[in-house]
Amino acid sequence: MRQSAATQEAHDERNVEIRNGWAEEDIRHTLKSKTMSVPDIFDLTDRVALVTGAARGLGRAMASALAGAGARLVIADINGPGAQAAAAELQASGHDALPLTVDVTQPADVDRMVQETLRAYGRIDVLLNNAGINYGGEFPPEDLGQCIWDEILAVNLTGVFLCAQAVGRQMIRQGRGKIINMASMSGIIVNRLTDRHPLSYSVSKAGVLITIACALSQPCW
Ligand SMILES: NC(=O)c1ccc[n+]([C@@H]2O[C@H](COP(=O)([O-])OP(=O)(O)OC[C@H]3O[C@@H](n4cnc5c(N)ncnc54)[C@H](O)[C@@H]3O)[C@@H](O)[C@H]2O)c1
Repeated sequence: MRQSAATQEAHDERNVEIRNGWAEEDIRHTLKSKTMSVPDIFDLTDRVALVTGAARGLGRAMASALAGAGARLVIADINGPGAQAAAAELQASGHDALPLTVDVTQPADVDRMVQETLRAYGRIDVLLNNAGINYGGEFPPEDLGQCIWDEILAVNLTGVFLCAQAVGRQMIRQGRGKIINMASMSGIIVNRLTDRHPLSYSVSKAGVLITIACALSQPCW
């Protein structure tokens, strides 16, 4: 059945109203209040966020965003001077930021990272497992050295495990906390649009992805 333009317009308007109505209801239900703004929803005032690999790149940008939301930051990176520079930049704009030189593949470093964070801030509310590596160049699987395989898995996967375990134990003691693991689309596809070797990187990121399913399968988490 054909509708006149006016009827169609009224119909569209009604649909928009219904959609908006549903969205507003959802938000109201989630927030239990009509008055919360977006910055309120993401407010991290006095929360402590620890970001690994935060000396540069995505980690540095996400650390800055977390600080902007009010969090007190730990900038953990194997690149000590880079961590100090990133922390100094946050401090210069009035944020709390603690730089730590940490190799996420080393259990002793990871334990020290947790202890120094607790000494400085007393708690850890957010862990962003961001540190990750890959190598450029052509490495057909038959020529891939085991040292490259081992190193990529050590940082991208074992590092995630070590940090999540050490920080997770503290979060269990606190009774709350959030862990975010940086994966990649390379964990579910073979990315041919890059000159980087996909095998070990993709395997590491597929491993990171399954950590989410494992976490969700734990009733206590
Ligand atoms: N850049 C992208 O397009 C992209 C896409 C998907 C996922 N990711 C993932 O996001 C994360 C960050 O990527 P990026 O592009 O910003 O990388 P990047 O190379 O710019 O930064 C990585 C940081 O991790 C640090 N790091 C490396 N090894 C470490 C170790 N053993 N211990 C502690 N820190 C270590 C480095 O010093 C560096 O500061 C990685 O996990 C990466 O796999 C990146």
